[in-house]
Amino acid sequence: MQEKEITVRIQIYETAQELSQVDTDLINAAREALTKSYSPYSGFKVGSAALLQNGAVVSGANQENAAYPMCVCAEVVMLSSCSAQYPGIAINKIAITTNSGKLPASSPKAPCGQCRQTILEYEKRFNSNIEIIMCGENGQVYKVGSAKDLLPLYFSGADLG
Ligand code: THU
Repeated sequence: MQEKEITVRIQIYETAQELSQVDTDLINAAREALTKSYSPYSGFKVGSAALLQNGAVVSGANQENAAYPMCVCAEVVMLSSCSAQYPGIAINKIAITTNSGKLPASSPKAPCGQCRQTILEYEKRFNSNIEIIMCGENGQVYKVGSAKDLLPLYFSGADLG
């Protein structure tokens, strides 16, 4: 038996002001996107924005449905929009922000498993890591260098043989 330790590096900033202007601009784009969340069922609002390699910023918010399994996450809305508007352009970084209306909105929430996998696919497609910035309305900000940091034992096209 062997044990393998997988180390994940997360940068933690006390406030968004500690980040670069490029990062804070992207956080602000995600916060603006959050206002377009359609989430009457969960009340959980998510906004997401991507900075593409060509400098474009594309955003998305979660869109819910009375048939609950049809709810679409903010990150998937945003990534689908990237593919539709800028096919063939890689993404440099993504900002994600949430507000549950219940828990304090001052702590970062990490994307769900499906969103992590969807971001990973974008990385694989363009062979380019995507920085992921996570934050609430205020307070600490988490940053990782790749979706792989959120999916240590990830599954990808390479596993299909
Ligand atoms: N949601 C997202 O938009 N992104 C995530 O990564 C996690 C969950 C949305 C889906 C649903 O509308 C609400 O948050 C509650 O799960």
